[in-house]
Amino acid sequence: MANLSSVYMGIELKNPLIVASCDLTSNIEQIKKCEEEGSGAVVLKSLFEEQIETETEELIAESWLPNHTEAFEYVRGMSMANGPSLYLDLIKKAKKEISIPIIASLNCISPKWWIDYAKQLELSGADALELNISVLPSDLKRSSEEIEKIYLDILDGVLGEINLPVAVKIGPYFTSIAKILNDLSKKGVKGLVLFNRFYQLDIDIKNIKLTGGNPLSSPNEISNSLRWIALLSERIPCDFAATTGIHSGHDVIKQILAGAKAVEICSTLYKNGLDHINNMLEEIKSWMNEHNYENIEDFRGKLSKKEEDKIELYDRLQYIKALNK
Ligand SMILES: Cc1cc2nc3c(=O)[nH]c(=O)nc-3n(C[C@H](O)[C@H](O)[C@H](O)COP(=O)(O)O)c2cc1C
Repeated sequence: MANLSSVYMGIELKNPLIVASCDLTSNIEQIKKCEEEGSGAVVLKSLFEEQIETETEELIAESWLPNHTEAFEYVRGMSMANGPSLYLDLIKKAKKEISIPIIASLNCISPKWWIDYAKQLELSGADALELNISVLPSDLKRSSEEIEKIYLDILDGVLGEINLPVAVKIGPYFTSIAKILNDLSKKGVKGLVLFNRFYQLDIDIKNIKLTGGNPLSSPNEISNSLRWIALLSERIPCDFAATTGIHSGHDVIKQILAGAKAVEICSTLYKNGLDHINNMLEEIKSWMNEHNYENIEDFRGKLSKKEEDKIELYDRLQYIKALNK
């Protein structure tokens, strides 16, 4: 009988399938459903830095305090002490009613005051914190070092404040992805989640205006995280989780062969329903039985790059003869 248990960031998972941060994990009923359908853990819908800011601004607006910086900082401090309350309540409720691990998620773009809020998340009982740091490198004057410093400064703040395992979910837009991931790991991050899928942009040529692209991924988007997890999971001492383009049990197997400790799935559940979790688990089990693997660890990282492996297999960026028959 195939045993799917996996340890991610020191947390025992009954299987490596985590429902990714999205609206499917934004309320207690849905989270219960994720557990019933067999997911190993859930990452809650992110609380956005701007939401914490808005709550603080609302408090300011309602209060008698004049709207100057000092007063704002004071109320912000109060707001942090209580935290955007609904999110904390959701974590407490989930921890009471659900037995799978609950990973809180913060979406941040700057290393500022919200760091205090991470402490509240820890006190509310979350098993881990995933920081979705999404700085789009579109500023003509910002160097890559400046952008990377934002990530590292955010972590300095958070890791100094809390004892929870912290994962960082990043996008693929880095000049030296290996170095930034290594730097994040050296800071003390326990999980690296590759890669966040950003809001997709499209253009409506009939009405000549910008529109949103498809918010859901397709299976052929798996290859970017697959490449980087295969290249780095053996060389950076940190747990890797894969996200984007994982739609089937076979996709999960690929990511584990590359070295992932867990996968985070979202689009496939929007397309196929939450009961697809069970189909994916069955697919993994039957593949493991076919290949005589009893445990996930028996094949995890089998295809990750070892020191002695030829880099060309993983590193090739250009097509040379893909279409030559
Ligand atoms: C409707 C929707 C809402 C999402 N909300 C969040 C969020 O709040 N925080 C976050 O880190 N990622 C969010 N994501 C990204 C997913 O967690 C996931 O990383 C991404 O969709 C790629 O995985 P997939 O290919 O399985 O969809 C969202 C995705 C979708 C489709």
